Amino acid sequence: MSKVLVTGGAGFIASHIVDRYIVNHEVAVLDDLSEGRIENMAPHLSKDEFTFIKGTITSKEDVKKALEGVSTVFHFAAQPDVRLSIDRPVWDFEINVVGSMNLLDEMRKSDVKRILFASSGGTVYGETDVFPTPESVSFHPISNYGAAKGAFEMYLSSFAELYGFEAVSCRFANIIGPRSTHGVIYDFYMKLKRNPSKLVVLGDGTQEKAYMYVEDTINAIELLENKMKPGHTPVNVGSGERLTVTRIAELVVESMNLPDAKIEYTGSKRGWAGDVVITDIDISLLKSLGWKPTIKLEDGVRKYVKWLLSEFGDVS
Ligand SMILES: NC(=O)c1ccc[n+]([C@@H]2O[C@H](COP(=O)([O-])OP(=O)(O)OC[C@H]3O[C@@H](n4cnc5c(N)ncnc54)[C@H](O)[C@@H]3O)[C@@H](O)[C@H]2O)c1
Repeated sequence: MSKVLVTGGAGFIASHIVDRYIVNHEVAVLDDLSEGRIENMAPHLSKDEFTFIKGTITSKEDVKKALEGVSTVFHFAAQPDVRLSIDRPVWDFEINVVGSMNLLDEMRKSDVKRILFASSGGTVYGETDVFPTPESVSFHPISNYGAAKGAFEMYLSSFAELYGFEAVSCRFANIIGPRSTHGVIYDFYMKLKRNPSKLVVLGDGTQEKAYMYVEDTINAIELLENKMKPGHTPVNVGSGERLTVTRIAELVVESMNLPDAKIEYTGSKRGWAGDVVITDIDISLLKSLGWKPTIKLEDGVRKYVKWLLSEFGDVS
C-alpha cells in the first residue's frame, strides 16, 4: 500500500480525502488543529494505516516527520479566511506562502515529488471579465488570500521544471458540505439560529458564485491524482453550476423551515472588501478528464443545511 500525506486533514475538505484514501492507502495527516477538529478523523484514529501528527507546515521538523515513507502529498493546510488575510496580510503570508514553501522544499529534500494543491478559482482569477473563466486566464487577485494561492502555484511551476515534480493545482469553486464551518451557508445558518425572524445579507444579493458539493469534489481530486503527470497542471474544480446569494438565502431559509424569516440586504454590490462578486470557472478540462457531477447543486445546499441542523441544532 502506498502512503499519502494529507496536510490540513482534520479540516473540512481534506478530512473527506482521508475518508476516501484510507480504504486502500496508508494515510498520514499533518494538522495544527487551529481550525480542524479531531472528530473529523475519529473513525481512523485507532487504525494501523493511519497516523496523525499534530504539527504545523511552518516547522521543518514537523514536516520532515510527516513526510516519512510518503509518495504523494495532498496540500490542504491553510489559513482559509479571505477576510482575515486582508486584516493580517503578513500572518497570512507566513502560513499560506512560507509554510507551503517549507513543505515543498522538504518534499524536494526527501525526494517526494507528487503534490496536489488546494488552490482557489474564485480568488486567483479575482476581478476578471472572462466567464466562465478557463485556466489560461491570468491571475488578478483582489485579496491577499488569492495572491498567496497564486504565488504558491508559481513555485509549483518552477519546482516541476527544476526538480521534476508532478503537481496539480486544484482551483476550487466554493466547496460546501458536511464538516464545513465557514462560508456563506454556514454564516446564514448561524445568523438564523440566533434570530429566526430575520436574515441580514451582506451586499445586494446579486453576487453569483460557483459552488460544488464536497462528495463530487473528492471524486474530482481522486481522478486528478490518478492522472498526474510530470509538470504543473492547474485544473478548475467546480460543478459548473452557480448560485446567487439571494437564492442561497432562500434555500437556507426553506431548509430550516422558517417561511416567515425576512431577508434584508445591506445594499452594496460587493459583500465586503476583497469579495469577488461573480465567479464562474470553466470546468471543460475537468470534464474532459472524465469527471461528472453526481449531485445537483441546490440539493447539495439542502444536504449541507440538514447536516448543520443535525450537528449544531435546530432554532430553539
Ligand atoms: N472551502 C472552500 O470552499 C475552498 C475553496 C478554495 C480553496 N480552498 C482551500 O482548501 C483547503 C481546505 O479548506 P477547508 O475549507 O477545508 O478549510 P479548513 O479550515 O476546514 O481546513 C484547513 C485545515 O488546515 C489546518 N491548518 C491551518 N494552518 C495550519 C498549519 N500552519 N499547519 C498545519 N495545519 C494547518 C487547519 O487546522 C484545518 O484543519 C485550504 O487550503 C483552502 O484554502 C477551500
